[in-house]
Amino acid sequence: MSATNFSTTTAATVSTTAPAATPTAATPTAATGIAPVLTAPPAPTAANSPALQAAIARGAIAILGTGSHAPKNIVTNDDLARQGIDTTDEWIRTRTGISSRHIGANGEATSDFATRAAQAALADAGLTPADIDLIIIATLTPDLPMPACATLVQQKLGARADIPCFDLNAACTGFLYALDTAWAMVASGRYKHALIAGAEKLSSILDWQDRNTCVLFGDGAGAAIIGATRARKSTFAGSHFSPLRAGTLPPEIIGVRLYCTPDTELLHIPVGGSLRPHTAGTYAQRQHYVQMKGKKIFKIAVREMERAAREILEQHNLTTNQIALVIPHQANRRIIDAIAKNLNYPPDRIFVNLDRYGNTSAASIPIALDEARRSGRVHPGDTTLFLAFGAGLTYGSALVRW
Ligand code: UT7
Repeated sequence: MSATNFSTTTAATVSTTAPAATPTAATPTAATGIAPVLTAPPAPTAANSPALQAAIARGAIAILGTGSHAPKNIVTNDDLARQGIDTTDEWIRTRTGISSRHIGANGEATSDFATRAAQAALADAGLTPADIDLIIIATLTPDLPMPACATLVQQKLGARADIPCFDLNAACTGFLYALDTAWAMVASGRYKHALIAGAEKLSSILDWQDRNTCVLFGDGAGAAIIGATRARKSTFAGSHFSPLRAGTLPPEIIGVRLYCTPDTELLHIPVGGSLRPHTAGTYAQRQHYVQMKGKKIFKIAVREMERAAREILEQHNLTTNQIALVIPHQANRRIIDAIAKNLNYPPDRIFVNLDRYGNTSAASIPIALDEARRSGRVHPGDTTLFLAFGAGLTYGSALVRW
């Protein structure tokens, strides 16, 4: 069975995509067919005003906009059972909390989802592709082994031709790794607006004969624009959640903590890289697909995301009472509930959308973040806590004030 054979139960787009932006990249010359590198410094904009330069110097770097996109094709648990996978809606819902997921069509790729999410994030930030001077795509399913997915996003967006574009693979923790990388690069003062995205077409690397894995994952992308903080327009009245909502502190990335404890065979794709290239034999043994020891991963995920939460809160002298919303990696509802219980954190202040997306790896946190913001769950002054965990084993946490 192929990933894209599924019949569509519901065809509704969840895109928050803005209208396509006008391409601004340098166009190839007739003589060489190669786009000339832009050498002129970017025109003065609000982005390099003295006030923003001062904000950069202070280290007040924030998420200026978010966007997300998922392919139209929605596949329910019942669809999977109908397609011959030995599973039931009841098993998947009770063991994971997942009801449906989005699956990309043939011909759609990770860069398509990332580009749509990026367009939405740019519109949200009030910026255009010409304002972006750094692109980082967190993914384990790039369109091709090379070039980087980020270069394809640059091309599809019509972004500038003189900017760095690269991919980053930290599996399901990828968005937090990209956030920390972009934060550091923007805080250095050398970049003004970074586009980061977590984007995946996981359906292309799943073994659709393995019920232990194929029911868990889905496709999609979430993006964010990282830049110096701009003045907040609203004067928020304050809230019982957080003393940080006094309205005086700017939106800001407060901190990121990243970890990697090597355990490389609990969740992996055994072949297809430089150690074990594909052969006819490895294809026959279906070793080019995701393999996971779910039960072991489950326990470590709970333990390490809880640790990442405790350590970042302690580092920044915050308590869980001061966190308005937790946005965790969306892998399993039972993992999320266990973390909430262990941290003694109210479940209604944890954002969950895995019922409609499944686990989208690096895209999971940024899709959830975008949905949380667009559905009114994030207010000016709120402090949100992100928690991620994935193959590697990578994990991490981040604190962001809005
Ligand atoms: O994002 C990266 C990190 N990944 C994760 O965090 C995933 C962590 N792990 C998990 O979420 C859970 O371990 C799973 C959802 C993968 C599995 O849940 P579980 O409660 O640990 O189930 P299990 O693997 O122990 O399997 C229990 C039973 C087995 O049958 P037997 O041996 O007891 O007869 C499985 O064969 O459930 C069976 N099973 C299924 N049955 C129906 C496994 N998958 C399915 C399925 N449908 N899709």
